[in-house]
Amino acid sequence: MNYGIKAAVLGLVGIGAAFLVIPMVFGFQKPMIETVQHGPRGVAMGLVYNDGDLAKTAAANKVPTYLPKLPAVGPKASAVYKNVQVLGDLSVGQFTRLMASVTQWVAPQQGCNYCHNPANLAEDSKYTKVVARRMLQMTQNINQNWTQHVVATGVTCYTCHRGLNIPANVWTNATPAPGSDSGMGFAAMNFGIAHPTTVTQAAVASLPSDPFTPYLEGAQNIRVQSTVALPGTDRSSIQQTDWTYALMMHMSSSLGVNCTYCHNSRAFSDWSQSPPQRVTAWYGIRMVREMNNGYMDPLAPVFPDYRKGPMGDVAKVNCTTCHQGVYKPLYGVSMAKDFPELQTVSSSAHPYP
Ligand code: HEC
Ligand code: HEC
Ligand code: HEC
Ligand code: HEC
Repeated sequence: MNYGIKAAVLGLVGIGAAFLVIPMVFGFQKPMIETVQHGPRGVAMGLVYNDGDLAKTAAANKVPTYLPKLPAVGPKASAVYKNVQVLGDLSVGQFTRLMASVTQWVAPQQGCNYCHNPANLAEDSKYTKVVARRMLQMTQNINQNWTQHVVATGVTCYTCHRGLNIPANVWTNATPAPGSDSGMGFAAMNFGIAHPTTVTQAAVASLPSDPFTPYLEGAQNIRVQSTVALPGTDRSSIQQTDWTYALMMHMSSSLGVNCTYCHNSRAFSDWSQSPPQRVTAWYGIRMVREMNNGYMDPLAPVFPDYRKGPMGDVAKVNCTTCHQGVYKPLYGVSMAKDFPELQTVSSSAHPYP
């Protein structure tokens, strides 16, 4: 054989070997795995954690320093300012502290002018100010009416925004799968399965890529297991089960936990064998539906088109928007306790719709 061809063949073999070896060396996780017992002994409900991953999430979920609470002294904001529809009961000092905090949480680069026309702070000409007012009400509603989920810990703008204009983890409706509209006869449908977005949303599994539209915006039934042990009694298809699993993969990865954090794997559907966290999660699903339908979707006319998804809808909330890889956002440290104005829905007039 000609030396040139030999060298070429050897070269190709070498490249092939590199493709095999490089992922083997860098693709596997180092064995720094810890198993933590969850639930009664002997039920095999271990939670598996990777020390390296835990160190990274711990570093990314620290509570920032923030301005101290102020007493309610002096005139009320409603008496001094022209256009306060939510925060009118605060004193001017408290109001100013909240404005400074909101700037730190949502627009630290841009400052007050991200929401305000500096020539007239009362004006609602920037869409960001109109959105921010609705966000104030959404935050108040979560803290007052969803204590089955957020308990007394509560949330602030920082829980989701973390110093970014748009939270790092949001989603929009997926474009319809090819063939999913009628009239395509027997054409194959893929339901977004093995779609590139699956990598981030359904934790690299070959499952539907958008379980959010049916379950976290719509109120489709999540339960798929039969409740009786007789053949022919389970009406759920494998396809429906795929969708449920896609949502469950999202919930697990957004909290940084295994399935056993909420389920006893010998009986996934049985509530009496499930850890209490599953009930908290059940309320969480309902809370997220209310946020998306009651607060995010109605803001569609306010947001400019470039902020919207391919289907023209606004970016919405899922479990990762708050949790960001941790079983309790910011490891359960409460910032909301120092912002009582964010804890109850203001009695002032409802500015929307
Ligand atoms: C993320 C958006 C946002 C940022 C950033 C922001 N504000 Fe505001 N601001 C609002 C909203 C929303 C209102 C109306 C609140 C209401 O209706 O109760 C408001 C109202 C005001 C008012 C009352 C004006 C009037 O007469 O009605 C003042 C004063 C004000 N902000 C000052 C500031 C200052 C100073 C900063 C920077 C330190 C700032 N704001 C940053 C959203 C923002
Ligand atoms: C539960 C999560 C969550 C909380 C809490 C939250 N936000 Fe948001 N916010 C969102 C999402 C999701 C969007 C993105 C909507 C989009 O881009 O279509 C958003 C968008 C915004 C925007 C528009 C940004 C832009 O550039 O388009 C502003 C301003 C804003 N939020 C202010 C606030 C303020 C102020 C608070 C606290 C009072 C707050 N948010 C609390 C989830 C949240
Ligand atoms: C954070 C808690 C949580 C985690 C983690 C979680 N689940 Fe779930 N799971 C739930 C809740 C809550 C429901 C019931 C939802 C409802 O009824 O609206 C549920 C329902 C299910 C169902 C349907 C049960 C029925 O009655 O038909 C299956 C199957 C399931 N989960 C499997 C899994 C798998 C597999 C994983 C891991 C990939 C997982 N879950 C991770 C909370 C969780
Ligand atoms: C608005 C922010 C927010 C969103 C969105 C959210 N959570 Fe939570 N969640 C919290 C807060 C805050 C806590 C901490 C409550 C506490 O201190 O016990 C919490 C606690 C939990 C817990 C209890 C953890 C434990 O160990 O006790 C579970 C389980 C949970 N969330 C699941 C979910 C799931 C599943 C979703 C999506 C369907 C979700 N959450 C969406 C804010 C949120």
